[in-house]
Amino acid sequence: MSAANGAAPTPGWYGAEPSDTQPDDPYSGYRELRETQPVNITPEGQWRLSRYEDVRRLLRGHWAGMRQTNGLLPGQVEDEPGRGLFMLLQDPPTHTRLRKLVSKAFTPRAIESWHPRIEAITNELLDKVAARGEMDLVRDLARPVPATLICEMLGIPPSDQEEFTNWTADATHGLLTLRGIGDEALQERVEAAASNLIGYFNALIEERRKNLGDDLLSALISAEEEGDKLSPLELLSNSVGLLIAGFETTIGLIGNGLTTLIQHPAELARLREHPEWIDSAVEECLRYSGPILVSVRVLHEAQRFGGYEIPKDSEVLAMLAAANRDPEVFEDPERFDVSRYAAGRGAVPDHLSFGGGAHLCLGAHLARLESQIAIGALVRRFDELELLNERTEWGRSIFRVPGRIPIRFVDARA
Ligand code: HEM
Repeated sequence: MSAANGAAPTPGWYGAEPSDTQPDDPYSGYRELRETQPVNITPEGQWRLSRYEDVRRLLRGHWAGMRQTNGLLPGQVEDEPGRGLFMLLQDPPTHTRLRKLVSKAFTPRAIESWHPRIEAITNELLDKVAARGEMDLVRDLARPVPATLICEMLGIPPSDQEEFTNWTADATHGLLTLRGIGDEALQERVEAAASNLIGYFNALIEERRKNLGDDLLSALISAEEEGDKLSPLELLSNSVGLLIAGFETTIGLIGNGLTTLIQHPAELARLREHPEWIDSAVEECLRYSGPILVSVRVLHEAQRFGGYEIPKDSEVLAMLAAANRDPEVFEDPERFDVSRYAAGRGAVPDHLSFGGGAHLCLGAHLARLESQIAIGALVRRFDELELLNERTEWGRSIFRVPGRIPIRFVDARA
């Protein structure tokens, strides 16, 4: 690219056109974009960065956040009190405050204490399908692991869990309707689910306030920092926010990760020989086929990227999945290598699938743990894994999340 002197780049898609139909391979388009116009403006006027160093600098910049300098979210016409209280939609000092309080309930130690339960949930799910020789990886594993776990973490009784999970799934589709994707029926389902979830959470919070337990919600209610606590609306928004942020994303990581492993039989065989590489394999799944392709920041000050000056208040897309395959940073980036992050391989740069800077995914530890256990258990126990569909059936999601992954297998224990 010829770095211009402050002039804007020529608008274009450069191979990387967004699509709500989830193309099987967005990566070749991202490669073209990164190679031909790494600092880009789309025909719709949005800036996009696709080189690793640029994306990382954007995510970590103290001069970038989620809101415009007038305090409004992009696209928002006026401040709506009580809305947008989820931490991902806030800038400092509110973001710093909310994140500190929620982090008190979401410590790595608290998450780690769920390790045995995640293993038990996974094993029960695998036992259920073992004799069948066929399963749908999404319905039978990738969805119920995070769904059951988050319900148990929140202390939702088993009799309510199915309905609660269906509301969560429907409410998560609100991310689609926010982007203007989907019809009226979807919009209605989203609204009904969101209002059911809010009603349920309000009742649950009320009940927990009277009778605190050792669940996540009680921890959020009690979280306190120098006399400061979450207000009732902040508590509600951040509880629902955690639920939505962690639902489809984890399904996507387990589902895409297993699909990628089955599509790379030599790597699957290496992982079976070295089960100790499971942590590395999950990092590589995040780098190579993570569920979130793009994050976003709003510039609070003008910034130069690739020779162009991006003005203050511009919304800039961080093309995480393009950065994750940048050959300037990753050796042989198009190769899926389960040992890339294994001990003894030297320093490998972090992938950017959990974002970065102040908004770095708060659920990263939980997502990793669930995926290491679920993916690890399945590949250890089932042999001769075979995808029954040639192409992935994508779910209805703003993220890269499969809807169904039918497979055939042989139970090694049978
Ligand atoms: C594979 C699974 C997941 C992926 C790929 C993922 C990815 C992300 C990304 C890209 C961001 C935005 C970061 C940025 O722009 O810098 C984010 C934020 C966030 N995620 Fe996750 N996430 C996952 C699972 C979870 C889970 C399980 C939870 C919690 C239950 C969670 C909670 C959050 C929260 C609370 C934020 C907002 C953090 C903040 O604004 O400070 N995520 N995640």
